[in-house]
Amino acid sequence: MTNEVLELLMHKDATLTEAALREYYLEDEDLKSLLDAERYSLFAGGKRIRPMLTLAFCRLFGGEDEAALPFACAVEMIHTYSLIHDDLPCMDNDDLRRGKPTNHKVFGEATALLAGDALLTGAFEVAASNTVVGAEISAKAVAFLASSAGRYGMIGGQIMDLEGENRKLTLDELLKLHSLKTGALISAAAVLGALAAGVSFTDRAMKDVVTYAENIGLAFQIVDDILDATGDSALLGKNTGVDAEHQKSTFLSFYSVEEARFYADRLTQTAMDAIRNYPDSDALCSLAEWLAGRNK
Ligand code: IPE
Ligand code: IPE
Ligand code: MG
Ligand code: MG
Ligand code: MG
Repeated sequence: MTNEVLELLMHKDATLTEAALREYYLEDEDLKSLLDAERYSLFAGGKRIRPMLTLAFCRLFGGEDEAALPFACAVEMIHTYSLIHDDLPCMDNDDLRRGKPTNHKVFGEATALLAGDALLTGAFEVAASNTVVGAEISAKAVAFLASSAGRYGMIGGQIMDLEGENRKLTLDELLKLHSLKTGALISAAAVLGALAAGVSFTDRAMKDVVTYAENIGLAFQIVDDILDATGDSALLGKNTGVDAEHQKSTFLSFYSVEEARFYADRLTQTAMDAIRNYPDSDALCSLAEWLAGRNK
């Protein structure tokens, strides 16, 4: 699939996800500041990579978009909450996200904190209420999503990231940090898509899903680290140089930019190898390559 066709598909999936996300919001004048703060970040124009993965894996295994969409929305809500909290002054203290001032800069820290909390809890309501797949699959998806986002998942990665500001991590620790902080939620996005299509954890196919997702997840964070050091803030929609400013341990603490790129490309090949024998894996293969070469 050419980049042009892939980008059209990304746009289509993003539009589908955003329309579904909007449906979860009902106006309430008394909660206006909270709802506005949530939607400010949720609809600020992220790349929507995670919902796209959920939709693509559901399609790969013959599932319908309607089955995957609530899971896609739930993952994007959790991702957005994680960004709002990641940017807070007590975390990375960032003032630019998705091309706009960060949530706390606009709504204040307390409202930003609560907007994140509401997105997180709301995500589980959305995932648990997936009536298309039914209660059994929903329950499995919710449990997997919770563990991917939680203490042995994304939040565990965030604490390792913060503690890595004060001491030099080993490469093994950094690999664990990256796989938790970023890989876990990317894996959840992929796994939930497969679950929506009826793939179960004991199926051989689920191993391939996880291999693909873990490899693109690590590559994704390697590229994120490279872009923080060398990228264009206007294209990225977030500040660059933040990792160096906070003396974070990143991939570039161990490798040159060229070596890190090579590493990311190798992971991308491994990811593609895991799924390329499935019919219609073209979109997922192209997405893996696009992510490795991205500049935003
Ligand atoms: C940024 O994620 C945070 C990381 C996990 C590296 P994305 O690069 O997917 O951010 P958006 O959703 O496009 O804003
Ligand atoms: C954050 O990692 C990953 C999350 C779990 C939010 P980063 O701190 O590197 O993300 P950016 O670079 O601010 O997007
Ligand atoms: Mg961070
Ligand atoms: Mg950050
Ligand atoms: Mg970063």
